[in-house]
Amino acid sequence: MKATRPGFLQLCSAEPFRIFFPLATLLGISGVSLWPLFFSGIHEFYPGVMHARLMIEGFLSGYVLGFLGTAMPRLLSAPPLRAAELWPLVVLHALCAGLHIGHQVVAGDVVFVVLLLTFAGCMIRRIHQRTELPPPGFVLVGMGYLCGVAGALLWAAGSKGWVSGNWLLFGGLLLNQAFVLYLLLGVGTFLLPRFLALPGIVLMDEERTASPGWRRRALFALSAGVLILASYCIETFLLAPQPAAILRGVTVIAFLGVMVPIHRTPAPWKTVPLAVNLALLSLAAGLIFPLFWPGQRAAGLHVVFLGGFSLITFTVGTRVVLGHSGFGHLFQGRLPALQIAAALIMVGTVLRAIGDFLITRATWLNWASALWMLAAVVWACAILPKVRHADPEDSGTCAGSRAKAAAATSH
Ligand code: HEM
Repeated sequence: MKATRPGFLQLCSAEPFRIFFPLATLLGISGVSLWPLFFSGIHEFYPGVMHARLMIEGFLSGYVLGFLGTAMPRLLSAPPLRAAELWPLVVLHALCAGLHIGHQVVAGDVVFVVLLLTFAGCMIRRIHQRTELPPPGFVLVGMGYLCGVAGALLWAAGSKGWVSGNWLLFGGLLLNQAFVLYLLLGVGTFLLPRFLALPGIVLMDEERTASPGWRRRALFALSAGVLILASYCIETFLLAPQPAAILRGVTVIAFLGVMVPIHRTPAPWKTVPLAVNLALLSLAAGLIFPLFWPGQRAAGLHVVFLGGFSLITFTVGTRVVLGHSGFGHLFQGRLPALQIAAALIMVGTVLRAIGDFLITRATWLNWASALWMLAAVVWACAILPKVRHADPEDSGTCAGSRAKAAAATSH
């Protein structure tokens, strides 16, 4: 009897990041490329909505599904996804992006909701089979998920005239901002202290039973989540963007200050801690941006999107891919591709924000797009080819085990 290596498709079903990360990266590059195509006159339509959807429902959601689909079963000590569960998710994700590229915004949003609900169904089945609780901060993952569903539905209903304009705008905030912000905070409070090697913090999240400590931390996350939600309500229904920005900024900064105290990072100059710190500082800067430049909403949002969301995405993506392909030791090293990507994204963030203040906006936005796409390509060329490699040491309850077991054939 001799075990053969599992094929790529077998690896994907147990570890969905292998298919979702490359797909999401392509969609992210497509979404950003819309701006140079528009400013050069090649695309004659204004790509505002298509860009927003490809970035949120294509790029960021692809990373979310790939990450959660791989990590959640492990965190719950439940079985990994099966092929019959994974491939419908991949088809729905691709269909959602295809509909947006075909200007079918409402249909794309409805498919996105179906995608999120289908994925939630897969996870709920595992929650029933679980032997442990997820980390307490994952309360925010649940809230983010609900915001994604509610935001897309409200936007779709608003576009059809079924709900008022205010609800449509609220849906836009939930989908474009709250969805990813909650997920970043929920997953980040578990993952980022480990990336930063913060002393003493890691152990606090190890507890996976409904102990008083777990409940206290979950309640803290829930309170932060409710305040953030209140800030979006204030922005939309009281038409008070500045108080909303103060509430949101203070809540996020205080929550991260407690859960991920970056000032205690032991080696902040190393690649991964540096990338994490830059991303969290960009997130904070983008959230308080409206206090200084209230008229420049899109500029502030893009400090959050580029420097915050996309840099964290590539950093977490690096960890996931290397950690699951037998190259985990590289994560502690210099990681030149992540260094270059982080530098390009940070410069791109500055250009994107400054561009909105200047009459030569198109040129600045073109440069920002070029830098972001270059960052994505550099990162993808160095990291993504490793999605084809199984982790030779992955055994036991981990996701690779079923694929490997299935692949064990006699010759
Ligand atoms: C790097 C170059 C980028 C450029 C030049 C750019 C440009 C723009 C512009 C001009 C808008 C306004 C569209 C409108 O409402 O008329 C916009 C909106 C948006 N962008 Fe970007 N973007 C870039 C990167 C990104 C990235 C990396 C993300 C997410 C990861 C992102 C997510 C969004 C979202 C969600 C909106 C809609 C915001 C809202 O009004 O709610 N963008 N972008």
